[in-house]
Amino acid sequence: MELNTIERDDIGAAAEDLVVLPAATRKVFVKTYGCQMNVYDSQRMTDALAIDGYAATDAIGEADLVLLNTCHIREKAAEKVYSELGRIRELKAERAKAGREMLVGVAGCVAQAEGAEIIRRSPVVDLVIGPQTYHRLPGVLAKARSGEKIVETDYAVEDKFEHLPQPKRAELIRRGVTAFLTVQEGCDKFCTFCVVPYTRGSEVSRPVAQIVAEAERLADAGVREVTLLGQNVNAWHGRGEDSEEWGLGRLLFRLAEIPGLARLRYTTSHPRDMDDELIAAHRDLPALMPYLHLPVQSGSDRILKAMNRRHMAKDYLTLIDRVRAARNDIALSGDFIVGFPGETEADFEATMQLVEDVNYASAFSFKYSPRPGTPGAEMNDQVPEAVKDERLQRLQALLLKQQQHFGASLVGRTIDTLVEKPGRQAGQKVGRSPWLQPVIVDEKAGEIGDIIQVRITKAGYNSLFAELA
Ligand code: 5AD
Ligand code: SF4
Repeated sequence: MELNTIERDDIGAAAEDLVVLPAATRKVFVKTYGCQMNVYDSQRMTDALAIDGYAATDAIGEADLVLLNTCHIREKAAEKVYSELGRIRELKAERAKAGREMLVGVAGCVAQAEGAEIIRRSPVVDLVIGPQTYHRLPGVLAKARSGEKIVETDYAVEDKFEHLPQPKRAELIRRGVTAFLTVQEGCDKFCTFCVVPYTRGSEVSRPVAQIVAEAERLADAGVREVTLLGQNVNAWHGRGEDSEEWGLGRLLFRLAEIPGLARLRYTTSHPRDMDDELIAAHRDLPALMPYLHLPVQSGSDRILKAMNRRHMAKDYLTLIDRVRAARNDIALSGDFIVGFPGETEADFEATMQLVEDVNYASAFSFKYSPRPGTPGAEMNDQVPEAVKDERLQRLQALLLKQQQHFGASLVGRTIDTLVEKPGRQAGQKVGRSPWLQPVIVDEKAGEIGDIIQVRITKAGYNSLFAELA
């Protein structure tokens, strides 16, 4: 076993006191912020690091490498990273006193957006790595260990997915019976509030063969439910096995053929990319769960135009009617922004009206947060914080009422549930409803991975309680 002496001394301890551990015993702590794509990316980074001799740990104090996988979508999300780095600075100093190294890396969308600025603001950071270059992580770490500060935020010319190692089957089994699978990244839509086109780049679809192979590996490891991910997932397209151009609908049909995969989902969609084939999949594909997250952001045509959403409120409502005609038990979810620049009380009322018209099963709503480099941040008529607060409260009260109403409407019904994991309380297991709600059942109701029929006895805020039917 070879022990290398670290050559760097940026945290006070004498350089020769610091010892780099032999590869196989290094530990990495990954903290994930933001969306499901970051959850998926964190797993893939962990897989890449496993090859490099890093075992994952939940205890930050024992980590030789701390990776923050960050989110830049709203200011609050981005600022969290810096407060976390403040805490990490102390931990790193403590470890240095004990003669142990702790490399600190910032990955994800803040890394992409702010690059070297992160190291200027937080010198505790050793490496900054953007989402398009995770496959280069082992090489980047080798350099960082030799004392260089690294910023790796280029858009890689090579396909990162081709170069990222696959996790071991045992690791996939450990991760459980539901899984994410990124099929598309980036966005070409340029909504005026959104940083995604800048942090994740332009739209890229993964090839069919890669996606099918990954889904087969997941199914082989016991995964029953796969959620396809993309910033604009329904813009996914690719050349199919029949040499035809496929859209997401066609891909879903193909994935449903994989033995063991019982349930499919996809997120997040743009209303403009809901094509006929995808809507037909909701009608004809039982494996496609009756749940659709379709953000609209606002119900005001004036604001939709300013946001560059490129559709009107009535287009969205017509689309919802078509989706419901295809699958009448579909539950709808959405994203909303209140207080976009220029939003008047009448504009906000139009959003409330749209919510009334659609009747959502769940939804996410946010106060507009001006993001550096986006057109929205430069617009006049920024809405005062107090007005945003008040509108958000009103909107969330309405959405919560709809969500509770949806849960209550399921009481007494018999539904399919995928048994997912042990419950928090002894004697319970937690399943997942077709509409993405946690379902609490008796632990004897089924084994993890089973899809069981349960009768809903009670609805909580978000979760459901059920007994075996
Ligand atoms: N401010 C507030 N919310 C935002 N979102 C995206 N950008 C912003 C912003 N600048 C919301 C949108 C999007 C969700 C992922 O985050 O509703 O659909
Ligand atoms: Fe952002 Fe709009 Fe692209 Fe969604 S569609 S990622 S909101 S720019």
